[in-house]
Amino acid sequence: MTDSENKKILLSGIQPSGTLHVGNYFGAMRRFVELQEEFESLIFIANYHALTSVSDSDMLIKNTQDAILDHLAIGLKPETLFLQSDIPEVTELAWIFNTLITVPYLSRAVAYKEKVDKGLEATVGLFDYPVLMAADILIMDADIVPVGQDQKQHVEIARDIAEKFNNRYGELFNIPKAHILREVSTVPGIDGQKMSKSYGNTIPLFSTDEDIKKLVMSIITDSKGESETKDPETDTVFALHRLFSEEQLSELKIRYEKGQIGYKESKEILVENIKTFIAPLRDKRENIAKDKDNILDVIKVGRERAQERARAKMKKVREAVGIML
Ligand code: ADP
Ligand code: TRP
Repeated sequence: MTDSENKKILLSGIQPSGTLHVGNYFGAMRRFVELQEEFESLIFIANYHALTSVSDSDMLIKNTQDAILDHLAIGLKPETLFLQSDIPEVTELAWIFNTLITVPYLSRAVAYKEKVDKGLEATVGLFDYPVLMAADILIMDADIVPVGQDQKQHVEIARDIAEKFNNRYGELFNIPKAHILREVSTVPGIDGQKMSKSYGNTIPLFSTDEDIKKLVMSIITDSKGESETKDPETDTVFALHRLFSEEQLSELKIRYEKGQIGYKESKEILVENIKTFIAPLRDKRENIAKDKDNILDVIKVGRERAQERARAKMKKVREAVGIML
């Protein structure tokens, strides 16, 4: 047996829906990189899922390329990555699953309702989103699916679908487990709320030095003067120090509590530390981006590995349900 055959399979998808920020990195992406050796990892860019919210084709292509570059730049191995659309069997399997589950069952999905409440059009695709996600997960025999809390229900739907299929047609699918990404607590944005694309308060992961400075210096703080005591627990600048200023953290904490540092100086230290952290990531991304047109070649191994798995699985599924090709 080879090493990879002994490892559990980890699978996760990322929608190509915009520029990665440091909240995404510390809250989610960094985990994929950390776990990629321990598990046999399959990480893909969910471009079919993104079609439920992105209707501009050029934008979808750009976002998809960017998502690949971003994930390579943070250290995901190219053989781990693939595009959802390189695995057409996934959409085929989603159709078969559609015939297994009911409209009332799927109507309980919370994310669908939330998206419609936020103004997304209530398309059949949006409604069926969890079924496509179940196909992503089950076709690869995933054991572990690292996701944010908001996606937990979707993994449960995948488990239900697997059980229903197995009961009806025989044991074909592994029952996956959600691995809820440790709330590295929520990374705050420059306005102190949760950092999020939708709030326009992010520090993009591949920012220029200039932007880092501009963004950090504009972080909202209270109005305490330099020699007043400050609470590190409630200050947004300090919350970011926890991620970027590990070595100086205890010293900074003391200076905050003793009123020995002003917010301006604290921000200046943060600017330097974020710059130091981001510079190598940005350089790596720029290097990979030079060959952007050939980016799909870079993830060739990942694609072929995923295709091989999916094809073998779909052959068994078709046989089980009685579809002739
Ligand atoms: P956004 O809120 O910017 O649209 P997404 O919803 O696309 O981000 O989230 C992608 C991943 O990043 C999810 O796993 C989510 O849990 C994580 N994430 C997003 N924002 C933060 C944050 N501020 N702190 C920690 N993790 C985050
Ligand atoms: N729905 C996930 C999200 O928005 C992305 C996704 C698509 C996914 N297919 C998946 C995540 C399969 C894990 C497994 O974050």
